[in-house]
Amino acid sequence: MAGTFDFKAAALAAAFAFLTSQVHAAETQSARADEGQVARGKYLVSIAGCNDCHTPGGMFGNPDMKRYLGGSDVGFSIPTQGVFVGANLTPDADTGLGKWTADQVVTALRKGKRPDGSEISGVMPWASYAHLTDDDAYAIAAFLRSLPPVANKITSYKSADTVPIAVSTVLPPDAYNALPAALK
Ligand code: HEC
Repeated sequence: MAGTFDFKAAALAAAFAFLTSQVHAAETQSARADEGQVARGKYLVSIAGCNDCHTPGGMFGNPDMKRYLGGSDVGFSIPTQGVFVGANLTPDADTGLGKWTADQVVTALRKGKRPDGSEISGVMPWASYAHLTDDDAYAIAAFLRSLPPVANKITSYKSADTVPIAVSTVLPPDAYNALPAALK
């Protein structure tokens, strides 16, 4: 009947509007939580030295911020074990961590294990990162996933390999003393 207030429809509409607003509030809250998590991860990465070992130029005090965390251009030699190069931590699917879940990044950070079960060299200070809390470890993973992907394939080397990049190594005194002046 025209002009009659349809109580049932109005009640349904009100209930629907209320539910929608609750869903929106929850979404905004979780977006804010994500932003906070990424900001926390950014802060932790900035103080944990990841940049030094994972950004080209980082070991020379001149990191290339366009390839931030896109993989190092310096290898670390561990005698008899090999020359290990800081991996590409950006979400590039082929050369970075793009296919890793947050859990897998956290396991690498705290346990030194890759998704395929292989061990990450102790050059990567995961034994220290083993003490990260869940909140902090997942914040780092969230920040890494928020980075622009950088395509940069990183390879580590065997001790006997001829390496195409600079190498950081610990030398016994005699070996250091015998170096040409330009390398001291
Ligand atoms: C002292 C240098 C150094 C620092 C500091 C460092 N890393 Fe590494 N990281 C490495 C090296 C070298 C490797 C490669 C090790 C290997 O090949 O076994 C590596 C490997 C990794 C890997 C495994 C990636 C892969 O594809 O295998 C992850 C993840 C990682 N680092 C994350 C981080 C994060 C996040 C930080 C900061 C919280 C950090 N690293 C700080 C040197 C470092």
